[in-house]
Amino acid sequence: MKATKIAIVGAGVVGTALAYLFKEKGYQLVGLAGSGEESLKKASSLVGSKVRTTTVPEEITAEADLVFITTSDSAIQEVCDGIAGKGGFRPGQIVVHTSGSLPSTILKSAQDRGALIASCHPLQSFADVKEAVKIIPSSIFNLEGDPKAIPILTELVEELGGKPLPIDTREKPLYHAAAVVACNFLVTLVYLSYRLFEAIGIPQDDASQALLPLVKGTVNNIEHLGPVKALTGPIARGDVGVIKGHMEALKTEDPRFIDIYRMISRLTVEIGIKKGTLSAERGKEILHILGV
Ligand SMILES: NC(=O)c1ccc[n+]([C@@H]2O[C@H](COP(=O)([O-])OP(=O)(O)OC[C@H]3O[C@@H](n4cnc5c(N)ncnc54)[C@H](OP(=O)(O)O)[C@@H]3O)[C@@H](O)[C@H]2O)c1
Repeated sequence: MKATKIAIVGAGVVGTALAYLFKEKGYQLVGLAGSGEESLKKASSLVGSKVRTTTVPEEITAEADLVFITTSDSAIQEVCDGIAGKGGFRPGQIVVHTSGSLPSTILKSAQDRGALIASCHPLQSFADVKEAVKIIPSSIFNLEGDPKAIPILTELVEELGGKPLPIDTREKPLYHAAAVVACNFLVTLVYLSYRLFEAIGIPQDDASQALLPLVKGTVNNIEHLGPVKALTGPIARGDVGVIKGHMEALKTEDPRFIDIYRMISRLTVEIGIKKGTLSAERGKEILHILGV
């Protein structure tokens, strides 16, 4: 049994999966706190019957060396302040949340009680607890916060099988913006492709069959070659005629589509030049056609 005592506040997907994994790795799980008996019952059946559960978080946090606040983002600060106000934190403890968008500084009330604060964000999207238990061990964990807490969290993440990615607290918004672009905007771009197929009468099922192998192949190329070498297509080739044709065709569609095409092409020109397959001069010509 490892010496570190861990308490988890927030019995949802991430909290329950972490409770399961910490227990499995031999950590002392002090308990799991949640807002209602229903979610706690469900969580304890997934973690194992011996886990202590409570709706009063300060009952378990005071005993722990490491407190994970895994509530929904909007509740983290309020939950932290509530525990702090009831004497649930102590000096030397580490208090962590798992949000990707919020900085560790929202845990200031714990810091005011002498705790070291940090955030520990698994850079993944988990559909449910079972999925999270499977994926967390191979996830990247973004870490930021008190420099004294980072080595301890690094060790913990590695113990789970994850890979730590430490950043400065001030860099968190840019870190999260990058994650949103890679995850959410990829969805938006694929959605745009579906809409363009729809415009020429290709139904969604056929669009999926046609487009998803292309998306998967592209992701595979990025994985093996990196984003610059993975770029193919008319901009990488400097094919001005094809780009003119796209712009002409897009004119009759939803005006947002041509705006997105223009803006994304603008950055794509930079990639083509970096790749070495597009000359700076041809790149300028493309930017002129795009009107950007
Ligand atoms: N899911 C993901 O893909 C993912 C990935 C990386 C990071 N994260 C981060 O991990 C954290 C948890 O996300 P999640 O997906 O596990 O959310 P979730 O499944 O919605 O769980 C959130 C839990 O917080 C509990 N809660 C809400 N208010 C509370 C309060 N005042 N006191 C105690 N418990 C409270 C909820 O309890 P009730 O159900 O009883 O209301 C719920 O069980 C968030 O910061 C999220 O951004 C999530």
